[in-house]
Amino acid sequence: MRHFLSTEDWSRDELQALIDRARAYRDSPLGDALKGKSIALVFFNPSLRTRTSFDLGAFQLGGHAIVLDAKGATWPVEIEPGAVMDGGPEEHVREAARVLSRYVDLIAIRCFPKFEDWKAEREDPLIRAYAEHATVPVINMETIVHPCQELALMMALQDWLGEVRGKTFLLSWVPHPKPLNTAVANSAILIASKFGMNVRVLAPDETYALDPRYMGAAERFCSEAGADFSFTTDIEAGYAGAHAVYAKSWGALPYYGRWDEEAAVRAKGEGFMVDEAKLARADDAVVSHCLPMRRNVKIADSVVDSDRFLGIEEAENRLHVQKAIMERLAGGAA
Ligand code: CP
Repeated sequence: MRHFLSTEDWSRDELQALIDRARAYRDSPLGDALKGKSIALVFFNPSLRTRTSFDLGAFQLGGHAIVLDAKGATWPVEIEPGAVMDGGPEEHVREAARVLSRYVDLIAIRCFPKFEDWKAEREDPLIRAYAEHATVPVINMETIVHPCQELALMMALQDWLGEVRGKTFLLSWVPHPKPLNTAVANSAILIASKFGMNVRVLAPDETYALDPRYMGAAERFCSEAGADFSFTTDIEAGYAGAHAVYAKSWGALPYYGRWDEEAAVRAKGEGFMVDEAKLARADDAVVSHCLPMRRNVKIADSVVDSDRFLGIEEAENRLHVQKAIMERLAGGAA
């Protein structure tokens, strides 16, 4: 039984097969891969795209989706083995995962880190516990990585750039009023490097370096592909010759759990919004973002409203790639 927790566990060829299958679903949306089957969509955090695209995708494949609002509409869950459960949680993940597995054929989970203790949260404990105890495949709908978003992004990049190997992918930190999850940033460099792109991470300060697990993996993938990997705080160097610019904001890990102290370093990124002037240094680059996105804070209107912006295509691709993933994990093609 395979889970889809992180693209780290899937080969490039397997991921490409999922993207190819997603293109087939884009051309011909309906199927019966989930006929008579069901998926539980467990959300600990808000969503527009993920919730809609998984629910609709299951319907289009003949299946049924049950959306569970885990914050309020289901019981709080304990994940610690051997816990004396005299606090808030009413049930243990060992029961929750096994019971859901008796009802449904797939379990998908969204659970962002709590932004309290990165040392613990970097182990992705809740989804890993679900995967350990569930007897059906588990899909990551965003935790400390966002693998469905990765496939949607790569599909859009390939559609626009053709062969991406050897092209330059810039992940640019962009401003936001508060620190955000590093999941999409981690995922962006994982997928771009896995597909052989030169990967640059641009951020206003060294403290915005991503977790070494992801920076290290991306560096390794780039090296294996003969591509370059770099981190820079220099906007001009970051944009120079880039073929794709991916905008994302995230919190600086050294300040994890004491975010008030991050404000000063965050202020250094005031000029990091993606705009026409910066893109003039790139190589006719496409621009994307996972959405939701604050206009004129992260990316200027003139860029978002241009035909170089792939964010809407990337969002549409979520539907197609997730159908390919559900089909694959439920025992079908790809
Ligand atoms: N990109 C993404 O996952 O969107 P939602 O948070 O709206 O699901």
